[in-house]
Amino acid sequence: MKIAVLPGDGIGIEIITEAVKVLNVLDLPLELEWADVGGKAYDNHGHPLPEATLNLAKAADAVLFGAVGDWKYDKLERQFRPEQAILGLRKGLGLFANFRPALCYPELTHASSLKPELVAGLDILIIRELTGDIYFGQPRGRRTAVDGHFPGSEEAFDTMRYSRPEIERIAHVAFQAAMKRGKKLTSVDKANVLETSQLWKDVMTEIHAQYPEVALDHMYVDNAAMQLVKAPKKLDVVVTGNMFGDILSDEAAMLTGSIGMLPSASLDKNNKGLYEPSHGSAPDIAGKGIANPLATILSAAMMLKFSLQQPDAAARIEAAVQSVLAQGLRTADIWSEGTTKVSTREMGDAVATA
Ligand code: NAI
Ligand code: MG
Repeated sequence: MKIAVLPGDGIGIEIITEAVKVLNVLDLPLELEWADVGGKAYDNHGHPLPEATLNLAKAADAVLFGAVGDWKYDKLERQFRPEQAILGLRKGLGLFANFRPALCYPELTHASSLKPELVAGLDILIIRELTGDIYFGQPRGRRTAVDGHFPGSEEAFDTMRYSRPEIERIAHVAFQAAMKRGKKLTSVDKANVLETSQLWKDVMTEIHAQYPEVALDHMYVDNAAMQLVKAPKKLDVVVTGNMFGDILSDEAAMLTGSIGMLPSASLDKNNKGLYEPSHGSAPDIAGKGIANPLATILSAAMMLKFSLQQPDAAARIEAAVQSVLAQGLRTADIWSEGTTKVSTREMGDAVATA
């Protein structure tokens, strides 16, 4: 099993080091190959996603990714910015389904933005479509308006776009995920005003016929945003488009206590995937040894489950994370009175030992 390890920038190297430490105690035949990505790759090779890195990712069975980005690259032309590496990897690997589980560990209910009783036992999964929607739709650009409210003025425009096959493939992924969990799927759209959402809803309803055991409901995105903070436990699996998913998954992140706890997976049609924490490179705390490595460690567990067919090893990691939290070990972002504050490395060591 070959894994491409791409630590990237900022806290990337610190958190990936701990995830690799945990993988290495599992006694699996894993072959890890490291490569530069993001700002580090730009510095060393002149491009945030060098050909060699992309090829390594393509040849591997899975990609373990840290994070990219740093303020010092803000002035670069868009194509050289570190964040372009993520888009390039998604495109190059055909990753279209983004899984973001939001799970609230019993020990961390106090750290949530919501009242403990609203999040105790929370375990939801947001599935975000990753390749379509207004982020990629053409045409887009700037021009002088010929109509609208202010003809003759400068305007900017993007195109929200989804094709039937794009929606069908994410629908299958979502229904299959729901089958493995609570057999309940909520499809989020804005079909009352958007044509793309109407197609989305039609296709979801059609594909539902192939998964009669799953209870499907549809929710408008504004209501979904509200339900996430009002009664998040009523949701189980949520499937939505690229932009709505981007926003709702960050909102869901705050229910769980810290973004440092949240793993993610981006999958292609064969369940090959890229696994990374939901957070970024956190340049404000990079190099201080205080970043929470658990999101990355849990991403490695997702990798074992989804791409490497090692569900037992994944379960061992999840149980180990649970156990270090039960022991009272906390990095700074989840620390509270009465618990033991530990460094990034100490947290990784504790999980590896557990
Ligand atoms: P961020 O997620 O890096 O940080 C937001 C806040 O959360 C910061 O205060 C940070 O210290 C804290 N934080 C993040 N991860 C943490 C962890 N593991 N443990 C403890 N605290 C943690 O988001 P921000 O600041 O908006 O972006 C920083 C850079 O990361 C930017 O260059 C951005 O473009 C990039 N980014 C990269 C992503 C990726 O590689 N997939 C995703 C999101 C942002
Ligand atoms: Mg986001």
